[in-house]
Amino acid sequence: MKDASPQTVYLSDYKPFGWHIADVHLTVRLDPTATRVRSRIRFEPTPGAEHPEFFLHGEDLRLISASIDGAPVTPELTAEGLRCAVPEGAFTWEAEVEIAPAENFALEGLYMSNGMYCTQCEAEGFRKISYYPDRPDVMATFTVRIEGDERVKLSNGNPVASGEGWAEWHDPWPKPAYLFALVAGDLVNHPGSFTTASGKEVELNIWVRPGDEGKCAWGMESLIASMKWDEEVYGREYDLDIFNIVAVDDFNMGAMENKGLNIFNSSCVLASPETSTDANFERIEAIIAHEYFHNWTGNRITCRDWFQLCLKEGLTVYRDSQFTSDMRSAEVKRIGDVIDLRARQFPEDQGPLSHPVRPESFQEINNFYTATVYEKGAEVIGMLKRLVGDEAYAKALDLYFDRHDGQACTIEDWLQVFEDATGRDLAQFKRWYSQSGTPHLKVSETFEDGIYTLTFTQETPPTPGQPDKLPQVLPIAVGLLNPNGDEVVPTTVLEMTEATQSFAFEGLSAKPVPSILRGFSAPVVLDRETSADEKRFLLAHDTDAFNRWEASRDLGRECLVDMIIQGSEPDLAWIDALGEVVRDDALDPAFRAMMLALPTQAELAQLLHSRDITPDPDAIHAASEALRDAMAQRWASVLPEIADKMWVDAPFDPGAEQAGKRSLGGAILALRTRLDGGAAAQTQFDAADNMTLQLGALSCLIRAGAEDKALAAFRKQWSGDRLVMDKWFALQVAATEPANAAARAEALTKLPDFDWKNPNRFRAVFGSLAMNHAGFHRADGSGYRLLADWLIKLDEKNPQTTARMCSVFQTWKRYDAGRQALMKEQLERIAARPGLSRDVTEMVTRLLS
Ligand code: PHE
Ligand code: ZN
Repeated sequence: MKDASPQTVYLSDYKPFGWHIADVHLTVRLDPTATRVRSRIRFEPTPGAEHPEFFLHGEDLRLISASIDGAPVTPELTAEGLRCAVPEGAFTWEAEVEIAPAENFALEGLYMSNGMYCTQCEAEGFRKISYYPDRPDVMATFTVRIEGDERVKLSNGNPVASGEGWAEWHDPWPKPAYLFALVAGDLVNHPGSFTTASGKEVELNIWVRPGDEGKCAWGMESLIASMKWDEEVYGREYDLDIFNIVAVDDFNMGAMENKGLNIFNSSCVLASPETSTDANFERIEAIIAHEYFHNWTGNRITCRDWFQLCLKEGLTVYRDSQFTSDMRSAEVKRIGDVIDLRARQFPEDQGPLSHPVRPESFQEINNFYTATVYEKGAEVIGMLKRLVGDEAYAKALDLYFDRHDGQACTIEDWLQVFEDATGRDLAQFKRWYSQSGTPHLKVSETFEDGIYTLTFTQETPPTPGQPDKLPQVLPIAVGLLNPNGDEVVPTTVLEMTEATQSFAFEGLSAKPVPSILRGFSAPVVLDRETSADEKRFLLAHDTDAFNRWEASRDLGRECLVDMIIQGSEPDLAWIDALGEVVRDDALDPAFRAMMLALPTQAELAQLLHSRDITPDPDAIHAASEALRDAMAQRWASVLPEIADKMWVDAPFDPGAEQAGKRSLGGAILALRTRLDGGAAAQTQFDAADNMTLQLGALSCLIRAGAEDKALAAFRKQWSGDRLVMDKWFALQVAATEPANAAARAEALTKLPDFDWKNPNRFRAVFGSLAMNHAGFHRADGSGYRLLADWLIKLDEKNPQTTARMCSVFQTWKRYDAGRQALMKEQLERIAARPGLSRDVTEMVTRLLS
């Protein structure tokens, strides 16, 4: 077995590398099966450091030659790299290796996608290109010469020179190898330019395959907006003459922030009104910003080691969420982020994969690009900002950039900057980085002699490796409303540091209604027993948009729980109160659309489990359907009128205003379809001139079981467009009746265009299967079996994407004994495979533990 007992790496074992690298010269002669990479590297001993042995990482490389100061050497080769005797002082290392990019389906290192060469080096991919100290704290300047017949040859930094069959690039900014990139192919560019605040002209390009030129304008607009925003809000300017973005069809993740040469999954950069939904446009805008923002938070200041991943990712997610809030609606963005956090991070934090924002050990770092590191990491920064205030946050960030530019840093460095800028002691706050699990917050209240007291108790349940938890610092944003609905105490941030703590508000004439955890000011589970009356009151009166939404969401949740476990009727009082909000034209349509979204079935399963009730996926599905039917019937007379008002009679614009209208219009259409069997949806489908309307209508038709004609038409229209066909694959599995989901997924895998080695296509089918909650969790186990079959198959080609998809099993212990046994059986079957990758081995071991 290849990786029978993978090694565990520990944060506490960190040791600096013994040498400093002045400059790296690479010459890459491209060939699909025999690319040659020559490296010339000057190593200088770091004064005072110990350098016991000279080890360079290297995997799947065929060493052709190696020399030190011009004299050939014969290093000792291992599966992970090479060891070599080296001189005491400085020396020049030269080596040549051969690699086969056309045979690289793991999509790490140098690989080919639709005939073009591209690289992915984060986290540890550079070692598949050349022997090198592949660790983020080794930073060097790179000069890269690319040789090949491809029309376009790109690398990091600025172009130096080029000629027939070669091009040379130089990146003046020292960087770790994970930020290295190289692209070559017969690409075309969508050009742009940007003048920085200090007057420097920057050339911008989005490089795509011929035929995709028409899908670049939005990406370019988003890039320019990001560059401007980072100057205005964080005072950060771009630092090279050129910034290139490349779209690649085969990519494991969303995108990668390589210095000056960002590489994107084509689904995260290409957009046009005809082929992309509003959600795609918004996501592209956010990811372009995210990668661009990494230039400062990640590239200029990078991570000392991979345990510090949240240093760049938490901060950059936080920055891109600020950007989206500024470009669109801050309230709607916040609600969307919380929905996402609860759907992806909470299950992780509350299951066998739970780990701290800064993990302390790993076997495969690729398995730690998680919702916890990214999204909870961003929440931690949001809390820090809430605690110190906006001004102090800005001051601390300036100090961070000043003090650490050009360095590879730790969370300790980051927190020190805040301590120095504010004089605060952040020792307790630091627990957010080391304690895993989601804190639960309980609240009780008293009112006496005009004094209203809130008492909070926090408790974090045990998580793997962490049986006992200490209290964390919780910023709890609270506002108080008096009984007539006026706000008597505006939003105030209470700083909770103890396990139990009380806060008093004086001088109140009547017992107020509290609005707690406004804006979701801390990533906790709020356990508060309140009456439905109070929630309806908040739904009607709260000035905080998030808590207004939350009040309704709570009512919907409780209504569904009653329907599921007692077979109750839908809560008409709530439906009527919600109807008021949905009809209120003074409110942003995007917000109204979010009010209409019910808790997901997975969220309900988690909620029931937390109340010691075994969730039944079929019952949850049935109740959700029944509630939607009830909403449609109750609002039958007003739905067409709202739909009419949401009709956009203007040229397509992906901005928040039109997108909000289409979003509410789509939610209304889904309800109408329950009444008319799909008539309105078919009309919309036939007339649609943009993908949001077309796909929205198709989704309704599938849910109504009236999709045959539309599905065929859609396939015919879009068979030449990979990204649109991903939607075609995904939607059929996600929106179909649970009873058919697995069978439908399986049927799709038999189509000739089910290119399973393409991660987007694989995820379209199997990610969607997992999203169809009751379909995936069919009691006969067919969903589990099908997915396991394909995970086993994909692991042989692409361990990283396989391992990421294994996490759909993370909630397995929530369900009944029968389903648990079926899921365990599949996990054990995967675990028993000979030659299983290190990535998947680690995941299934953690899932089963
Ligand atoms: N660093 C990338 C980002 O967050 C994500 C990524 C990780 C991409 C690993 C590829 C491989 O923007
Ligand atoms: Zn990132």
